Amino acid sequence: MSPGGPWPARVTVVEVGPRDGLQNEARPLSVDDRVAFCQALLAAGLAVVEVGAFVSPRWVPQMAGSSEVLQRVAAAAGGPRLPVLVPNRRGYEDALAAGARELAIFTAASETFNRRNTNASIDQSFERFAAFVPEALARGLRLRGYVSTCFGCPYEGRVPVARVADVARRLVDLGCHEVSIGDTIGVGVPSQVADVIGTLAGEMPRERLAVHFHDTRGTALANVVAALQEGVTVVDSSAGGLGGCPYAPGASGNLATEDLLYMLHGMGIETGVDLEAVVQASRQVAARLGRALPSRYLQACRP
Ligand code: HMG
Ligand code: MG
Repeated sequence: MSPGGPWPARVTVVEVGPRDGLQNEARPLSVDDRVAFCQALLAAGLAVVEVGAFVSPRWVPQMAGSSEVLQRVAAAAGGPRLPVLVPNRRGYEDALAAGARELAIFTAASETFNRRNTNASIDQSFERFAAFVPEALARGLRLRGYVSTCFGCPYEGRVPVARVADVARRLVDLGCHEVSIGDTIGVGVPSQVADVIGTLAGEMPRERLAVHFHDTRGTALANVVAALQEGVTVVDSSAGGLGGCPYAPGASGNLATEDLLYMLHGMGIETGVDLEAVVQASRQVAARLGRALPSRYLQACRP
């Protein structure tokens, strides 16, 4: 704990901009631009950068070319973790061939969202995972898990905490070293975060938990504070506040990495990340996309 509050001394920031951020952009970025974005983020000191997704290009055309992105980024990078999203055995084989060392599997706490996002029930998602996860773990790959719609579903509304806990538990049992608890459509509030994380922490080590907030209704930073108070020390965010899920109507950007870093550093919490270098990475990508990005910090320090 750091002086001045019940805060951890250090937080690991998982940068998801090149995947969650870019997957929702109307204008897909070229592979060259995506590689440059990842490299700028790594140069800023981010130790975990999710570089792409091995999903169907018919479902998410923006993530086509993730093999090349991963290969080029991994070739230039030394030690950082470079997870990639994988929904099934086909994605696993492609990711393995591209040299992936860490996979991120994803499912949801609500059935309807999971079907819309992956054409599978939650049980069917786990059947898909069973077709490659044991082999991936035997090869020494790391495995991250996502649970979407933990604080509300765009189709079903409120989601019972027990269902979030059940899916998170199944991901841990499968071998995930970390499970990221997602507010896919940004509806959560701090008291709910305390409830969900408090419940999960009763069932699994807090060190296994990460939080993934979309900032649709402006509650993401407050939710991070609530998660830190519950002992979470891994937070997902997206440079510039890029992001959203194409299969979650109303989902807007992820919590912006700049806004998160500004708050954490101000609270005396170390991240190892250079905030101004992330600003440069976001400016570069904003120029490529031809639009301003929603990060509040980025807007406040406009040149
Ligand atoms: P499906 O149509 O049921 O799959 O889609 P299928 O097995 O029937 O295959 C259909 C076709 O897709 C075949 O090609 C397969 O080869 C191909 P065809 O014979 O028709 O030419 N295919 C693939 N191609 C490339 N890579 C693959 C792959 N698998 C099959 N891995 C599938 C099922 C899961 C593939 C599809 O639903 C899909 O790709 N969904 C991905 C959706 C997605 O990426 N959503 C956004 C990420 S999740 C998110 O943002 C939430 C998160 O941020 C946390 C939060 O905020 O909550 C993580
Ligand atoms: Mg997301």
